[in-house]
Amino acid sequence: MPPVLRAQEMAKIMEKILIVDDEDFIRENLERILKEERYRTAIAKNGEEALSFLKEASFDLVFLDLRLPDISGIEILKKIKESDPDLLVIVMTGYASVESAVEALKSGAYDYIKKPFKADVIKLIVRLALEAQSLKREILSLKKQREGARGNRPVIISKSLAMKEVLIQVREVAKHAETTVLITGETGTGKDLAARAIHDLSSRANRPFIEVNCATLPANLLESELFGHETGAFTGARGRKIGLFEAASTGTIFLDEIGEMELGLQAKLLRVLEDKKIRRLGGTQLHEIDVRIIAASNQDLREAIKAGRFREDLFYRLHIVPIHMPPLRARPQDILALSNHFLSEYAKKFSRNFEGLSREAEVLLQSYCWPGNVRELRHVVERICIMHDAKVLGPEHLPKELTPQVCDTTLAADPMHFPLPPGGFKLDEMIERFTLHLVVEVMQRAEGNISKAAKLLGIPRGTLRYKLDKFSLEGYPGEKKPISSL
Ligand SMILES: Nc1ncnc2c1ncn2[C@@H]1O[C@H](COP(=O)(O)OP(=O)(O)O)[C@@H](O)[C@H]1O
Ligand SMILES: [Mg+2]
Repeated sequence: MPPVLRAQEMAKIMEKILIVDDEDFIRENLERILKEERYRTAIAKNGEEALSFLKEASFDLVFLDLRLPDISGIEILKKIKESDPDLLVIVMTGYASVESAVEALKSGAYDYIKKPFKADVIKLIVRLALEAQSLKREILSLKKQREGARGNRPVIISKSLAMKEVLIQVREVAKHAETTVLITGETGTGKDLAARAIHDLSSRANRPFIEVNCATLPANLLESELFGHETGAFTGARGRKIGLFEAASTGTIFLDEIGEMELGLQAKLLRVLEDKKIRRLGGTQLHEIDVRIIAASNQDLREAIKAGRFREDLFYRLHIVPIHMPPLRARPQDILALSNHFLSEYAKKFSRNFEGLSREAEVLLQSYCWPGNVRELRHVVERICIMHDAKVLGPEHLPKELTPQVCDTTLAADPMHFPLPPGGFKLDEMIERFTLHLVVEVMQRAEGNISKAAKLLGIPRGTLRYKLDKFSLEGYPGEKKPISSL
């Protein structure tokens, strides 16, 4: 029966070492030492053999004698480094000449040893070299992953102050990789996008992001999906299954439409949040989990609590850092930026010539209430690009239902309220943020008229102008246009 191997030993078996030396005794000795440590080895008696080995197979490390009968060790070393700069080479010198060792190191050798050598020294050198190598590879691959993740990161348009504020909160909470987040907002306002951004900007970015929609699965199925199950936990539970909490380990789990979760399961979720442990269905053992939980809801959870559909204790456990996505009608400054963003995306996708919006189309887009929020806007632009082609998108391309309306923004987020960030915060920064809110609120009340707003605030017009510039409030181009038409 083959021996049971530990992971570390498995790794060694995978590692291949080439020994290049013309002395039988040295080769055999080195091979024996390395085999004791379960490394795989290949043997070359001279430079020629070494080069043909290196051409045909890949190695993790090479022991290279500097004095070979045919080609000099340094020559081989340089060839190795040309074709594979990362391959580890340890040179061996029988004459202990320091100069040749230094020359080898300069040419890219990892280390050098003097002959004769001790078995323990060889074992240690090899282990350290391979560990350092694998660490280096891991860092490189993480870097690549991170760059890749950055490249694919979706754009979040935020011209309006309300969205800028959301982004501040997203960035802030991303830093606290353990903190639970509750994202609320109507459907299509960008809750998924915000959850993804929190994950991508956090230290968990290279770990899994698992999204679960609590509304689409029946309660018992959702439970076994989240917690996993042991063999025979219930009828039909074939084999053991790891749940999503475990699958998301060291990453983020996004529980969308949490308001639809059944009360019994809510109690179990509360326990997970409190203990950071889960038990698979039908299991006895508790498994620790390290997962950030982000929940989202498009319904008013306070109403759901009143109606007895949502647990109050769970609500407060989730509500530690609430982020509210304002409806699009409450941030009309975003409409054109979003439209242009989607237009360039779909024009490219469907090879259309659209370059921008006509003024009339802009006005129409901005005077519609967008009950389906950003998602509806995205779909409208997509449909236009499928059906039409032109250089300028005009009102004739827009769907008929896009008529000017008076939008009810009373349900929009209270702009004077913003939650305190978790962890530390600076008073100066908080005052800045509050000032920003105040300025926007007053600008809205003054219908975009800077002089009027300055009077309301009791400050000189120039001071307000300076503040507006400082906050670079795009969408406030001048006094004449009322804010609602921007
Ligand atoms: N600020 C934004 N910038 C760019 N795209 C957005 C923005 N907000 C929402 N979207 C897009 O609108 C669509 C709906 O967003 P989503 O996050 O799925 O909304 P929700 O989860 O609140 O229903 C997605 O295609 C998303 O990419
Ligand atoms: Mg969603």
